[in-house]
Amino acid sequence: MKPLLIALALILAAPLPAHAHPRDPRDLRELAQRHGIKVGSAVDVAALRAEADYRKVLNREFNHVTAENAMKWESVEPQRGVYTWADADAVVENARRNRQQVRGHTLVWHNQLPAWLTSGVADGSIDAAELRSILRDHITTQVGRYKGKIRAWDVVNEVVEEDGTLRQNIWLTHLGPGYIADAFRWAHRADPRAKLFINDYNLEWNQPKIETTLSIVKDLQSQGVPIHGVGFQGHLGIQYDYPGDWANVMRRFADLGLEIAVTELDVRMVLPVTPDKLATQADYYRRALTDCVSVKACKELTLWGYTDRHSWVPGWFEGEGSACVMDENLAPKPAYHALLTVPRQRR
Ligand code: XIL
Repeated sequence: MKPLLIALALILAAPLPAHAHPRDPRDLRELAQRHGIKVGSAVDVAALRAEADYRKVLNREFNHVTAENAMKWESVEPQRGVYTWADADAVVENARRNRQQVRGHTLVWHNQLPAWLTSGVADGSIDAAELRSILRDHITTQVGRYKGKIRAWDVVNEVVEEDGTLRQNIWLTHLGPGYIADAFRWAHRADPRAKLFINDYNLEWNQPKIETTLSIVKDLQSQGVPIHGVGFQGHLGIQYDYPGDWANVMRRFADLGLEIAVTELDVRMVLPVTPDKLATQADYYRRALTDCVSVKACKELTLWGYTDRHSWVPGWFEGEGSACVMDENLAPKPAYHALLTVPRQRR
């Protein structure tokens, strides 16, 4: 035998020391396997098309994806009746080729609506009856197009205000609170096997928002409306305390029979980046995964982008950034390694 082979044989034959743990996963796909969950990322379609390194790491690390913007209403129907599916299709097709499941994001929201819709509502040229049929058509068309290809849909996004009242958006104003039940029913009709979610931010800790969202779910269930899950966006920042009660909040929704997902996790910081801040950030990521895997119903944890090269944070939070688990060069940050160390939970 060659010396190299002998050395290899000795290494393989050596018993593990008594204190040794099974080795940590090598990447996020292995991590997902360890925990029996999906680990996902939001996808920037322009980067997916143009950047081979971005594409390679995305497809290596993740078994679930969400289109960051490509499935929003302004992206898919920028002019009335003119559908532009190319970007959304590209995400779904790339996912299929790389054995990734897909979260559809999002059907009913108050942001990133096409101008023809918001201006038509504002100037009265679209009345309430027409608005309702526009919404029904939108949901039916989009969910129908991807029937069988989307594991879970964010049917309604951010429909509760911070004070626990229903959000004052064009849907509530013109259609009344029943728009939420309608949206779930229409989505279910278009793809009966897709899991249908209500999704929100600050739901990790905001008490009024938690209580209202719970009562929306109970109300829908009592009417027999198909709702299957709740999404916690998970946009965190290290300048705020970690939401320490999050796992308990997840359990309250799980007790209603819902699946739980962390749908948009990122952990921003006030710049400049320091080693201390990166360590704190790593701890927040570790705790978020730990909370998810401590609740049996939590089946997906999706990052809102995996690299600081393409993150919404610098554009939306002045003076903040570095929110992702890899840096601009796709080098893993402490947060990436911290995720890999989370032990498997019996749940
Ligand atoms: C953000 C995208 O990341 C940005 O690129 C876009 O300009 C604005 O929207 N909650 C959501 C996401 O549900 O759709 C948002 O995504 C971030 C907050």
